[in-house]
Amino acid sequence: MADRYLHLTGTATGRFLTRRLGLPQPAHLRRWSLETPTLPGPVVHLTAKDSAVTDELATVLAACGPEVVARADRPAGIVLDATAVDTAAGLGAVHAALHPVVRSLAPGGRVVVLGTRPSPEDHHQAAAQQALEGFVRSLGKEIGKGATVQLLRLAPGAVAAAESTLRFLLSPRSAYISGQVIELTDAAPGPVADWAAPLAGRTALVTGAARGIGASVASVLARDGAHVICLDVPQAQDELTRTADRLGATALPLDITADDAAGRIAAAAPDGLDILVHNAGITRDRRLANMPADRWAQVIDVNLDSVLRTTDALLENGTLRHGGRIVATASIAGIAGNNGQTNYAASKAGVIGLVRSLAPRAAAGHGVTVNAVAPGFIETRMTAAVPLFIREAGRRMNSLSQGGLPVDVAETIAWFAQPASSAVNGQIVRVCGQSLLGA
Ligand SMILES: NC(=O)c1ccc[n+]([C@@H]2O[C@H](COP(=O)([O-])OP(=O)(O)OC[C@H]3O[C@@H](n4cnc5c(N)ncnc54)[C@H](O)[C@@H]3O)[C@@H](O)[C@H]2O)c1
Repeated sequence: MADRYLHLTGTATGRFLTRRLGLPQPAHLRRWSLETPTLPGPVVHLTAKDSAVTDELATVLAACGPEVVARADRPAGIVLDATAVDTAAGLGAVHAALHPVVRSLAPGGRVVVLGTRPSPEDHHQAAAQQALEGFVRSLGKEIGKGATVQLLRLAPGAVAAAESTLRFLLSPRSAYISGQVIELTDAAPGPVADWAAPLAGRTALVTGAARGIGASVASVLARDGAHVICLDVPQAQDELTRTADRLGATALPLDITADDAAGRIAAAAPDGLDILVHNAGITRDRRLANMPADRWAQVIDVNLDSVLRTTDALLENGTLRHGGRIVATASIAGIAGNNGQTNYAASKAGVIGLVRSLAPRAAAGHGVTVNAVAPGFIETRMTAAVPLFIREAGRRMNSLSQGGLPVDVAETIAWFAQPASSAVNGQIVRVCGQSLLGA
């Protein structure tokens, strides 16, 4: 269902009228394409206080693609190193660094603030570093013009581990992500022979890949060099085969809730899997008072239980290779809750619990990372079925005043999946344009 309002505000008359009426002004988001692979201008590297990582960060930023400069009239990105800010007074340096430049940021620009984890031993450092979270979330809400703002917390001395993440955040691939806090570990990044095909030689399985977000995930993973196995229910076989054929992928018609699902996946990937994307999901909405047990059970089974079962089995039987990546699909409904979705929100919150608990153990025991995307309002068949008024509210109630596209979720999953993203573990990254719902 096309977003007609977004189209209207893209015309001169529509813009004039909607401005006069004080209505939202969604900006056209610049997404990755062969023609627009990078930001349209330089990235300014600023430091809020004498930082121990300035030189190393400069080297990593220089490798990321965009030109890096100390100042620019119209920067397309700003990276502020606030890792050394450890007192309330020191926060003044954050204001001093960004206040003069934020207005000159190009439309669709990127602001990335670098911090460290709030310390459990030093409450002054913890206060200052936690303050950056409120700062970033507020700046994301006020910056406008399709620009985004994130806080990236580095592990001490692990700047090199941030390269794949900085590349992602400072690119058109992260167009629909804003107001996020991402924490990195100090895990050494895996090797990258070619940043244009970072998944070359890797095998990925995507569930629910016949259509919607799953088809887009399969497409982006294939674009980045992976061989993809597309799984979907046998009833969707025609659509599944079309998607797989288009991508040179393998089709695996299979209900993910089947008892033998993990065995069938292992058989379809005899040389093992590097990337496992749990994307299949269903809704069976009703208020709890009207919800029969079968609607509850179906949603928990597809969205959560099958994710737990297949994850356990594919880790235990060694199908997921060392250095592998597991990516699950949560939802902002699992963070904020939603009227009529107790089953769905429970299943998606369960996914978040699974990721947070398993991530450190999977990394220690198997060298595998576990992360989740939490999409907000994404334009798919699932959201086209939402009643008009609620659909319009879902589209506009975020800092970018528009819905996301399946490719926005897919790009995020492709970043998690990279060998160089070893330091990204246990993260729940919302792809929601900084929705007003939830934290
Ligand atoms: N669209 C959104 O706005 C949005 C928001 C938040 C989260 N999500 C999540 O993103 C994921 C994809 O959503 P979408 O909008 O593309 O949905 P969709 O309904 O368009 O696609 C889901 C796919 O999963 C498949 N599937 C369902 N049950 C299955 C099973 N038992 N075994 C194998 N495949 C199965 C379906 O056949 C379908 O192809 C879901 O997990 C959904 O909960 C979507």
